[in-house]
Amino acid sequence: MAGRLIVISNRIPMEKTVSGGLVVALHDALGCAGGIWIGAHPETGVADEAVEELGSSPYRRLAFRLTEDEQANYYLGYANSVLWPLCHRRGDLVEMRSEYEAAYRAVNARVARIVARIAEPDDLIWVHDYHFLPLATELRRLGVSNRIGFFLHIPFPALGDLSVLSQPERFADDLAHYNLIGLQTRGDVARCLEMYRADPRAEFMPDGSIKFRDRVTAIRSFPIGIDTAGFAADASQETVNPFGREEPGRFIIGVDRLDYSKGLPNRFRGFARYLETRPDGARPCLVQIAPPTRQQVRAYQDITRELEEIAGHVNGAFAELNWTPVRYIHRAVPRVELARLYRKASACLVTSFADGMNLVAKEFVAAQDPGNPGVLLLSRFAGAAEDMTEALQINPYDIEDIAAAIGTALEMPLAERLRRHEACLDVVRKTDVAKWSTDFLRVLMTCGASANFRD
Ligand code: G6P
Repeated sequence: MAGRLIVISNRIPMEKTVSGGLVVALHDALGCAGGIWIGAHPETGVADEAVEELGSSPYRRLAFRLTEDEQANYYLGYANSVLWPLCHRRGDLVEMRSEYEAAYRAVNARVARIVARIAEPDDLIWVHDYHFLPLATELRRLGVSNRIGFFLHIPFPALGDLSVLSQPERFADDLAHYNLIGLQTRGDVARCLEMYRADPRAEFMPDGSIKFRDRVTAIRSFPIGIDTAGFAADASQETVNPFGREEPGRFIIGVDRLDYSKGLPNRFRGFARYLETRPDGARPCLVQIAPPTRQQVRAYQDITRELEEIAGHVNGAFAELNWTPVRYIHRAVPRVELARLYRKASACLVTSFADGMNLVAKEFVAAQDPGNPGVLLLSRFAGAAEDMTEALQINPYDIEDIAAAIGTALEMPLAERLRRHEACLDVVRKTDVAKWSTDFLRVLMTCGASANFRD
């Protein structure tokens, strides 16, 4: 790579999260060429172009501060009360307020000024996720003509859903300021192309790129993965025992941020329905890890309350003195304990109504004992379902389907478990996080000369 890599994401990696997938993925690319990671710092503070250099790491980490207003209107507001529900097909949860969009644009303009000051002509700029859709628009306005790539970690919205926005055409316009739009799945690419097909300003090039006001933008899928080998190694650490003396016997695992897109109430209902129909003597548990997230947003408070109620009902209806069917843990668990939990589980339940990829599915598969693997029950609406066709795919809207699939998983013969697991593991190995970042950067580097990208 000729220049440096500059990465921008809303969350800047903290020192203690150096083992996270994205951080591991970008570590080499950032470390080898004096790379820079720019992101928001969780504490509120001054809202100017000042950045704070965070402690030592193989690359530079520059943090900008958000004011309380920006945190409320840009992060909780436009990013998580407009774009997040919109992309997850929950138009009913979208909250439109003009101050949200104004703050979102203002933060993007400020971050663009920070990047423009730092970027040198050969640097590659890689922007992550829905917090920064208009960042390239702002950078081009400042005369930055570097190659700029964008990766959307969440689902690409359906064309009809974009009409929820006050100016839907800006979505297509903002994205067309990037040289490369990276999406999780082929389905996402199809939705993105559908948006441009419906836009009279867009032309299609023979290689599938789009031409929009003289600029050419490539659109490709890059399914994100995990640090497969690292995760498998953690899962094999037999000295780590996450349960202590309270080991639950056979159990199904679920791990999700407590988000309405994850289908958690239906998961609990599906498990309860299974318990009604289970064979005599079967007393499996559902161990659900669900750390809280974005708790200042009303929709998240509502789902938290709803889930606590359902867990209470299920345990009230089915528990016995020595058996609690649902173990519900409302906080995060360290990675190595998580890897051990996955390995000990008989099955993993993913019930997302919409999900960019769902890395839990990949982590579960990587963590299994290859000689005696557990079964992955995977929502057909998770991005991971596109390639992991040998997982037991479920319809998360259908309680009976979830219940029946739990029964099938818990009774599945070893030969079928082995066959399905091998096929899933093959996908998880072939699409690991190193491949994801290498592929994205290789394509970005070969994107056409960016002279036209100066506004
Ligand atoms: C999703 C998004 C990420 C985001 C993460 C956690 O995975 O794609 O961009 O960082 O959720 O959400 P939070 O709001 O806590 O950063």
